[in-house]
Amino acid sequence: MAIIRQAGEGDLEGVFMLINSNLDDFFPPSVIMFFQEQWPQGQLVATDVFGNILGAICGSRLEGGRASVSLFAVDEGCRGKGIGGQLLEAFRRRCFMDGFGVIQLEVRTSNVSAKDFYERRGFRVTELLPGFYNDGGDGYRMVLFVTGCRSGRALPREKRRRAFRRHENMLSSTCSVW
Ligand SMILES: CC(C)(COP(=O)(O)OP(=O)(O)OC[C@H]1O[C@@H](n2cnc3c(N)ncnc32)[C@H](O)[C@@H]1OP(=O)(O)O)[C@@H](O)C(=O)NCCC(=O)NCCS
Repeated sequence: MAIIRQAGEGDLEGVFMLINSNLDDFFPPSVIMFFQEQWPQGQLVATDVFGNILGAICGSRLEGGRASVSLFAVDEGCRGKGIGGQLLEAFRRRCFMDGFGVIQLEVRTSNVSAKDFYERRGFRVTELLPGFYNDGGDGYRMVLFVTGCRSGRALPREKRRRAFRRHENMLSSTCSVW
């Protein structure tokens, strides 16, 4: 069981090490600092009881009521134990509290396990992004509609489908990015 908390300035080095040891692209500290300054509450870390960082999400605010999971990783030796799920759920709650209607992210088309992980948590692919990554790799854009839920658990499948359709209609009429 990991401890999930908001990341602070003192976590910069730890988050930098974790992100760059576990993602394919390189992200300089300035990128992580940018996210921290833009939306301090959208930065989460998972730690063990000694304070070692096991996982992190760097979120960012986008236009149109959307938040982005910009960087997300769990240390290789700690995966498959629920830490990523805990972090994503804490991020979803944060987004709900901050009034975001949609969570968006991009994932490599080759990263099948991460895509499946997101789909099992309600995200859906909305767009193929050819050459999205620096090395020319393709990506998928995925979204999750942030529906209110007092228990914090995922909504039942039928309710989720209805919420998805409702928000999809709303977005197609209001948001040109889609
Ligand atoms: C995607 C990622 C953040 C998920 O973190 P995690 O701590 O492994 O997530 P969880 O343990 O909550 O869930 C992983 C799922 O894979 C399963 N799993 C089993 N063994 C696993 C293993 N050795 N490694 C990863 N997942 C495993 C888990 O049972 C779980 O299944 P579920 O979705 O049915 O619950 C993590 O795999 C990661 O950092 N990947 C590399 C970086 C990356 O791809 N980031 C996303 C970029 S968009």
